[in-house]
Amino acid sequence: MIIVKLGGSLITDKSKAFVIRGGVLRRLSGEIKRGAGKDLIIIHGGGSFGHPIANKYMLQRGFQSKEQLRGVYLTRLYMDILNRKVLEALTNKSVPAISIQSSANIICDNGRINEFNIEIVDGFIKLGLVPVMYGDVVLDKSRGFCILSGDQIVSHLAMEFDVDRVILATDVDGVYTKDPKKFEEAKFIKEISKDNTQILDKLEISENDVTGGLKGKIIELLKLAEKGTESIIINGLVKGRLEKAILGERVLGTKVF
Ligand code: IPE
Repeated sequence: MIIVKLGGSLITDKSKAFVIRGGVLRRLSGEIKRGAGKDLIIIHGGGSFGHPIANKYMLQRGFQSKEQLRGVYLTRLYMDILNRKVLEALTNKSVPAISIQSSANIICDNGRINEFNIEIVDGFIKLGLVPVMYGDVVLDKSRGFCILSGDQIVSHLAMEFDVDRVILATDVDGVYTKDPKKFEEAKFIKEISKDNTQILDKLEISENDVTGGLKGKIIELLKLAEKGTESIIINGLVKGRLEKAILGERVLGTKVF
């Protein structure tokens, strides 16, 4: 089985609220169709459909006031709209994608997944379908609600299922010491191993990303490395890279193992 995460910064334009990168999404859907021969789960992030509202209403802090509830239902609404676009793109390329609403299937406790009936995911896979889930605002037993990242869903499912490969498709080649779009001196990191995590101290958490940005992703992937599951962070903006990664070919990216 392969788990693919389509990052929010890849499928949406993070600089503009509620803008989908339609062409990229169409191309990636074709690559998923051509690459996939095995069981597959797709998770997508929120990008400019999730983070700005979650940020504005400080949803990552959990329930603090009634005013935040507008942020909760708007986040749900816009994540549904984005999910629908992803589903349309996938099914247009005949990927047998079936959406599973994260907030209707998962309850967190203190920001971590606490209840998740993965039988539903398993059942659809066994039928030959491709479950699609996404980062979302979900109920939280101690905080009322929380923002659940797609990355945490990826690591949870990769723990539960027998997974060959986890692929995180983003809008950069992999992990850098600094944001490569802002700093020329940013250095590419080819590998991060569970025995060598000092590199994490050098990575900064991005302010506008309510789920911890790249650092948050790597922390999730290192949990999988402990279990022996390898992940790769790749650039989905480069034509064919996702397809090759799904097929198990060597591609440029940061390996976490
Ligand atoms: C965030 O999910 C979901 C919301 C903000 C509602 P992710 O954390 O997986 O999203 P990206 O990939 O970073 O955009």
